Formats: sequence, structure tokens, C-alpha cells
Amino acid sequence: MIFYFSATGNSCHVAKRIADATGDRIISVTECLKKGAFDFNAKDGETIGFITPVYNFGLPVTVIDFINRLNLNHRGYVFTLVTFGGFSGGASKMIKALLKEKGIKTDAQYSVRMPDTWTPVYDLSDKEKICETNRKADIKIDGIIKKISKKVNGNFDSRRIPFGDKFYGGYEEMRKTSTLSVSSNCIGCGLCAEQCPVNAIEIRNGKPVWVKDKCAMCLGCLHHCPSFAIQRGEKTRIHGQYTHE
Ligand SMILES: Cc1cc2nc3c(=O)[nH]c(=O)nc-3n(C[C@H](O)[C@H](O)[C@H](O)COP(=O)(O)O)c2cc1C
Ligand code: SF4
Ligand code: SF4
Repeated sequence: MIFYFSATGNSCHVAKRIADATGDRIISVTECLKKGAFDFNAKDGETIGFITPVYNFGLPVTVIDFINRLNLNHRGYVFTLVTFGGFSGGASKMIKALLKEKGIKTDAQYSVRMPDTWTPVYDLSDKEKICETNRKADIKIDGIIKKISKKVNGNFDSRRIPFGDKFYGGYEEMRKTSTLSVSSNCIGCGLCAEQCPVNAIEIRNGKPVWVKDKCAMCLGCLHHCPSFAIQRGEKTRIHGQYTHE
């Protein structure tokens, strides 16, 4: 049973690759939040995975909300896996502590470097560079699959930093929806509202309107928009859109 949160496909890709190799089922955190599904019974000995992107050296609010509401019956190997663009910071430490509060003991922690979807800063316009990053990520995932199959214990998050959680506070400010804007390129398809994990968007008069002051700031609306009509600040237009194939 592999729980995953993914706005732009990186963490979903990792979850699918692990599930394909191990025969586990994958469960979308976004779907669970939308349906209010928080009660799960694992089979005896079934492996449990939690896969999430790193946000501001910590966890997306969606993942925190999901784990806080989760009721999980299990007696198997538990792993966490974070996908990140540069440094995973304190995200692995944070998810382990959250799971511990729920009485879930983490046996192994993994991380995979992937294209950095925080395009207000990082440039994802070079498609060859993205392919190379994802090629290296797939090699890393192969190694992780071997460890998970053998139920190896340990912390294998190689890009964690001891003081990582100190930076997490900045996420609160980043989450302000007033930083997102929509241009006249919008064709009113509604995809942004549909895929938003926290229902922060409504389509009014054929355009998205942010109806919450804060969201998860996953940038899923920006990266999935078929007209690239949603932006965050000056740089996102030139830094391009990205979703994992
Ligand atoms: C709001 C936000 C904050 C992020 N913060 C970090 C970070 O602190 N460190 C990092 O290495 N990557 C960071 N990233 C990059 C993502 O963790 C990375 O691209 C991840 O693989 C995206 O996963 P997804 O495609 O499954 O949503 C951030 C991305 C977003 C949208
Ligand atoms: S996804 Fe893009 S085009 Fe579609 S409604 Fe949202 S902003 Fe407009
Ligand atoms: S409004 Fe956009 S950035 Fe914010 S949570 Fe929804 S999809 Fe993500």
C-alpha cells in the first residue's frame, strides 16, 4: 500500500515504478483528501509507503493533513520516500516524526532528486536537461526498489541537512494565493480547479478565481494549464511548464 502526493507527476512516477516492481497498490493522497477516505487496513505483512515532494525543506500541507487524519491498521515494513529538486532538508525527519505521532514506526527512508518544480526560482525550460535528471532518477529508483523488496532498514536520504527544518517556516508566507495570477490566454477549461488538491480555485465567468487565502502552493495549476495562463511572479513564464511524462 503506497500513499503518494504528487502535483506534477514526479512522486507519482516513483510510486508507480515501485508498485509495478513490488505488486503493491498505490493510493493518491489528493483523492483521499477529496473523498474523505482516511481509514485503511493493510494485509498482514503488507509494505506501507509514503511518497511526497519536499516543500521548503519540509512537507506539503496536504501530506501533513492526510497523515494527521489517517487511521491505518498495519503490521508490515514502512518506508518514506521524498522527491526533491536540490536538497530534501528536514522533510524525511518531519514525516518520520508525524508517523510516529500516529503510532507508525518508519523502517526506512529514501529520497530521489528530480526536476525542481519551484519555477519561480528554477528554470525547467531545457528539455534535454530534464530528460537527463529523470534518467538519473530512474537509476536511483532501481536501487531503491531492490532495498524495498528486501525490506532493508535505514536512512538512505542522502540530501537531508541537519538544520533543514529551520527553513520550513517560510512555507506559510509562500502559500498565499494572492501570489498567483491568470492571463487573458485562459480558455476557461476548468482543469486548474479540477486538479487543485485543496479546492482553492473556482471557475467564475470562465476564469479561475482563488477562493482561499492560502493553498498548498503545489503549482499544479500553473504546470498543468493547457494555455500556460497561470503564473507566479515574473520568472515562471520563462522558466516553463513541467509535468513528468
Ligand atoms: C512549493 C514548493 C516548494 C519546494 N521546495 C523544495 C525544497 O525545499 N527543496 C527541494 O529540493 N525541492 C523543492 N521543491 C521541488 C519539489 O520537491 C520537486 O520538484 C518534487 O519532485 C515535485 O514533486 P511532484 O512532481 O510529485 O509534485 C519545491 C516545489 C514546490 C512546488
Ligand atoms: S487550466 Fe488554464 S485555461 Fe483552463 S481554466 Fe485554468 S487557467 Fe484557464
Ligand atoms: S491553487 Fe494551484 S498552487 Fe495552490 S494548491 Fe491549488 S493547484 Fe496548487
